[in-house]
Amino acid sequence: MKLIDQSAAYIRTRLAGHAMPHTAIILGSGLGLLADRIENPVVIPYADIPNFRRSTAVGHKGNLIVGTLGGECVMAMQGRFHYYEGYTMQEVTFPVRVMARLGIKTLLVSNAAGAVNPEYRVGDMMIITDHINLMPNPLVGPNMDEFGDRFPDMTTVYSRRLREKALAAAARMGIELRQGVYVAGTGPTYETPAEYRMYRLIGGDAAGMSTVPEVIVARHCGMEIFGMSVITNQSADLSDACLNDGDDVVRQANLAAERMTDLFQQLL
Ligand code: HPA
Repeated sequence: MKLIDQSAAYIRTRLAGHAMPHTAIILGSGLGLLADRIENPVVIPYADIPNFRRSTAVGHKGNLIVGTLGGECVMAMQGRFHYYEGYTMQEVTFPVRVMARLGIKTLLVSNAAGAVNPEYRVGDMMIITDHINLMPNPLVGPNMDEFGDRFPDMTTVYSRRLREKALAAAARMGIELRQGVYVAGTGPTYETPAEYRMYRLIGGDAAGMSTVPEVIVARHCGMEIFGMSVITNQSADLSDACLNDGDDVVRQANLAAERMTDLFQQLL
C-alpha cells in the first residue's frame, strides 16, 4: 500500500494544475497510436515514477500520458507489463492499483490477440464479452481490503453499458466488430495447434498473454471495464503460417490501430 501511494503521490505532483482523469486506457502491443492523439499531453516516462517497472515487450513504449481525448480527460498507459517478462502478478497489476488511488473509475484495455474462432480474420476487432483465465490469479495472497472484497464477483466483468455504447458507435462509423471470449495464457510461447483447439473447445474466441491480470485487479477495485482485442494472426491449427516472433503481431496491430483509436475516441 505504501509503494502504491508513493507512486500515486508522484503522479499527482506531476499533474499539479491539470484536470484529474477518471478514465484510464491500457494500450496493447502495436496499439500505442492512441497516445499520439491525446491533446495537451503530460508525458510521464515509467522510469520517472517511483516503484514503476520498465516495459520491455516489443511494441510497448513505457509512458504514462495524461490529456484530453474525445473531449474526456484520460490517462493512458503506452505499454503494459506482462507476466512473461518475468514480473510478478503484483508488478503486472501495480499500475491499476495506482490508478484506483488516483480516482480512475473506468478502464479501457486493448490487446493484440490470435484468432481462436475460425470465422475471425486478421485485422478483425473483438469486443471482449468475457474471459477465461489460464494465468495465475493476481489476487492470490492477503486481500487488500482498501480496494475490495476477498471473493470478487466476476459475473459481468466487461460492462454491458460500455459494450452497447461501443456497438452503437461502431455502427455509426461503419466499423464491424466481433464479440467474444478472450483466453489468457502466460506466454511467451504461442499456442501449439492442440492448445488452440483446446481454447476453441473450452469456449474461447481469441488468445493472448495479457489484459486479464489488470482486468481482475480493476474489477476488485470496482472499476467499470471495457476490453478490445485486435486479431493479429490465425491460430496455428488452421493456418500454415508460422509465428516466429512478435514482429508480425505488432505489424498487424499497427494496421488496425487507427480504427481502434477512432472507436475508443467515439466511446469516450
Ligand atoms: N496467442 C497468444 N497471444 C497472442 C497471439 C496468439 O496467437 N497473437 C497475439 N498475441
